[in-house]
Amino acid sequence: MQDIDRLGAELRANIEAADSLEALDAARVRALGRKGAITSLMKELGALEPEERRDAGAALNALKDGIAAAVEDRRAALRDRALADRLADRGVDVTLPVRDEARGRVHPVSQTIDEIVTIFADMGFAVAEGPDIEDDFHNFTALNIPPEHPARQMHDTFYLEAERDGAPLLLRTHTSPVQIRHMRAASPPYRIIAPGRTFRRDSDMTHTPMFHQVEGLAIGRDIHMGHLKGCLEEFARVMFENDDLRMRFRPSYFPFTEPSAEVDIGCSRRDGELRIGEGDDWLEILGCGMVHPNVLENVGLDPDEWQGFAFGMGIDRIAMLKYGIPDLRAFFECDLRWLRHYGFAPFDVPTLAGGLAR
Ligand code: PHE
Repeated sequence: MQDIDRLGAELRANIEAADSLEALDAARVRALGRKGAITSLMKELGALEPEERRDAGAALNALKDGIAAAVEDRRAALRDRALADRLADRGVDVTLPVRDEARGRVHPVSQTIDEIVTIFADMGFAVAEGPDIEDDFHNFTALNIPPEHPARQMHDTFYLEAERDGAPLLLRTHTSPVQIRHMRAASPPYRIIAPGRTFRRDSDMTHTPMFHQVEGLAIGRDIHMGHLKGCLEEFARVMFENDDLRMRFRPSYFPFTEPSAEVDIGCSRRDGELRIGEGDDWLEILGCGMVHPNVLENVGLDPDEWQGFAFGMGIDRIAMLKYGIPDLRAFFECDLRWLRHYGFAPFDVPTLAGGLAR
């Protein structure tokens, strides 16, 4: 009996000393496992006299139950401690001062895209997208620019080595192929804008090989040039936050629109500084027109039933004008000092009610 008491004390001490679930399990096996101390004593009971066997058996059973209970208690305690440790780790110190404004900055081009999308979304336009790598059909042919058309030379295209349908793939030279993709994928009426990257082999003070455009497309049964004008005037006034902004629609030529126009906004160029909405000078900001009947036919629409307008605008230039950024190339140099200066706070999402940019 004394042995049993001593064994009990020893086993309990082991259990109390276990400070992880693994150590606890090892202690349990040493006591209650198939080759454990209590199990071995149980096996020896058979050799005892009946009287002794009864007493020893009862004592061993009591010890076994006691040890099993001690293991469970210790297990619960270890679990509670682990949870408390985890919670302490994740604690929030509410006495710390509020952290400074987030340090990241939104690039002026992204900001300008968000502003443009916000304005056109308010007029019912949805955003559409297309791939940067295009094929000849979407970038040219479907837009009424057949092979050998001089407009193909004007576009200074980057061609890839890979081909599709016997013609090399290319980096899209404008966002107009998104018109084609959208019209082929959905049924009219359409009202979309498509901001994105565009590419031309061009690089100097005012051109970079990669730049951004936004395409607009509105097709219905009776959409006319007046809608185009009203829509773009509204856009420019909200964008440049100037209700008296002067605009001029100048006849022009694009293969995919007829009639076509280029749009200028009023500006002044005094002392080498460009100011929007003042003076009597003009600055071109976009190309537009009524979608050419051939383009509608190329996407399977009947030009006697459907008509509408399209426009294409350079985003980078708009950003430079609006935010007084002098050199286009800095846009793509990834200089964090520049971004900190010209970038926008990430939580200042442009809205028409709250203001476009602050
Ligand atoms: N895709 C033309 C360009 O890049 C712009 C444009 C788009 C003109 C849609 C008319 C209609 O110059």
